[in-house]
Amino acid sequence: MGKTIAVCNQKGGVGKTTTAVNLAACLAAAEEPTLLVDMDAQCNATTGVGLDRDTIQASVYDVITRRGSRDGNTAMRDIIVPSERIRYLSIAPASTDLAGAEVELVNVLARERRLREALDEIRDDYSYIIIDTPPSLGLLTINVLAATRSVLIPIQCEYYALEGLAELLNTIRLVQKNLNRDLVIEGALLTMYDTRLNLSRQVAEDVRGCFSGRVFDTVVPRNVKLSEAPSFGKPIILYDIMSSGAESYLSLAKEIMNNG
Ligand SMILES: Nc1ncnc2c1ncn2[C@@H]1O[C@H](COP(=O)(O)OP(=O)(O)O)[C@@H](O)[C@H]1O
Ligand SMILES: [Mg+2]
Repeated sequence: MGKTIAVCNQKGGVGKTTTAVNLAACLAAAEEPTLLVDMDAQCNATTGVGLDRDTIQASVYDVITRRGSRDGNTAMRDIIVPSERIRYLSIAPASTDLAGAEVELVNVLARERRLREALDEIRDDYSYIIIDTPPSLGLLTINVLAATRSVLIPIQCEYYALEGLAELLNTIRLVQKNLNRDLVIEGALLTMYDTRLNLSRQVAEDVRGCFSGRVFDTVVPRNVKLSEAPSFGKPIILYDIMSSGAESYLSLAKEIMNNG
């Protein structure tokens, strides 16, 4: 059965999508069948791997709200598309109407388990399932936490890096207690690290203190190539394999494969 990892932090702009896209691409490059699930209505992971938002027929929105095609239900398998650029990589795309799902699900029975049930149908098809999440702790993120085996928490090496972390860890504990006993923290990932800044070093030290042994050895540097790649619809390993950004996400993928 595939290992599911959710990239989660309710703060925006910390490197969730960059991490989800590039980790998924690097795992696939290692010939591990990998599924990237985009759970953010902004669709940045979907477009970041080169899918055109306008040509997407059905998305995770249709799956978790159970709309659409056959007998009124859309299954996960119906929405998954293979990446045209990276073998072994498939994508379960998002669509902008996902923003409405949060509200639509409120009155639905077992609404927190919609994604989990949908993923259960396809977990055996992949070695890894990587989920990108929205910048909130709403019902979509709860669905993700209920559906995943582990959480990877990207932390931007900036002011207020640890702000909101207590709330995130508390939400994880609540989900462990009520929805998903097997949920674990895969690790915290330092992102946008700038070796020239004392601040980056300070944040790294604070994060290592806060997460004790659970911080990835890989540190993602601030690298302009990582921010350019999405506008070409390419993961970093296709955009600039020699960049420090590519090196760091290949190293992260290796750490994750070694974690088992
Ligand atoms: N290591 C990095 N170096 C430089 N820019 C980065 C890096 N990681 C992310 N970015 C850029 O920072 C912005 C926010 O990153 P993103 O992954 O979209 O965060 P989130 O999904 O948490 O909102 C994006 O413009 C992205 O391209
Ligand atoms: Mg994002």
